[in-house]
Amino acid sequence: MEVRIPDVIDVHTPSPARMYDYWLGGKDNFAADREAAEKVIAAHPEQRKLVRANRDFLVRVVRHLAEQGVEQFLDLGTGIPTSPNVHEVAREIRPAARVVYVDNDPIVFAHNQAFRATDDRIATVQADIRRPREILGDPAVERLLDFDRPIGLLVIAVLHFVPEGEEVIGTLRENMAPGSFLALSTGTYEGLTLEQRERIENAYAKSSAPAVIRSRTEIERLFTGFDLVEPGLVHVARWRSDGPETKGRLLAGVGRLGTSSPAG
Ligand SMILES: C[S@@+](CC[C@H](N)C(=O)[O-])C[C@H]1O[C@@H](n2cnc3c(N)ncnc32)[C@H](O)[C@@H]1O
Repeated sequence: MEVRIPDVIDVHTPSPARMYDYWLGGKDNFAADREAAEKVIAAHPEQRKLVRANRDFLVRVVRHLAEQGVEQFLDLGTGIPTSPNVHEVAREIRPAARVVYVDNDPIVFAHNQAFRATDDRIATVQADIRRPREILGDPAVERLLDFDRPIGLLVIAVLHFVPEGEEVIGTLRENMAPGSFLALSTGTYEGLTLEQRERIENAYAKSSAPAVIRSRTEIERLFTGFDLVEPGLVHVARWRSDGPETKGRLLAGVGRLGTSSPAG
């Protein structure tokens, strides 16, 4: 059977969302994605383990935030739906939880609409997180999220495609109520040799979003205005878990916006 692929989908340019799907064992990827994803594995053989650890972090963090009373989530760079999804985890603890899923990839948007936006307390938005004001002004965000109350801002494994990470988070933070949380994981060059780092950057170079690998200090700066909760900024497998560390790392942390935090 011939499968028709919509024109908006560029199957020849590797997409980070589809490469990630490939590492997770999904089927929503094309030859160009698989080739680029395999190049990353060649540079960092533990890549699949790292990606799985990141998904597990996402589940732990959403559970933790829901336990802290958060019942509205803004998930930036959601990726192709993978079980369990944010709303499913949150609703185990907060049955009325509301979630807005944001991604700029058309395949992710289509899948989010089909599989995630399953009721009127879940919305999916196709937007570029480098333009956070557009996200704040999006009708679905305005309808579902009350920024006068704590929000769980999820920025998981996406800022390594976004050089403007600090500005993006700063703009959103200015609009978030005290008691809100920022949960973040992102790629660092800690643990990698220079050669590995270059090979990973090369594998992404021709993709729709080149990689932006940061130092620990640069990642700490992303939490400006937030108080990091225990255990601080750690390997993604070690955030409230004792999973095995891989050489290549995603550093992960959760920050809470206190009443004394700078508003801008
Ligand atoms: C590695 S996946 C992470 C998925 C999910 N957050 C997780 O941790 O399992 C990164 C996602 O970010 C999206 N993304 C990358 N740059 C983006 C941007 N500028 N705006 C919105 N989404 C972006 C990609 O399309 C991809 O779906």
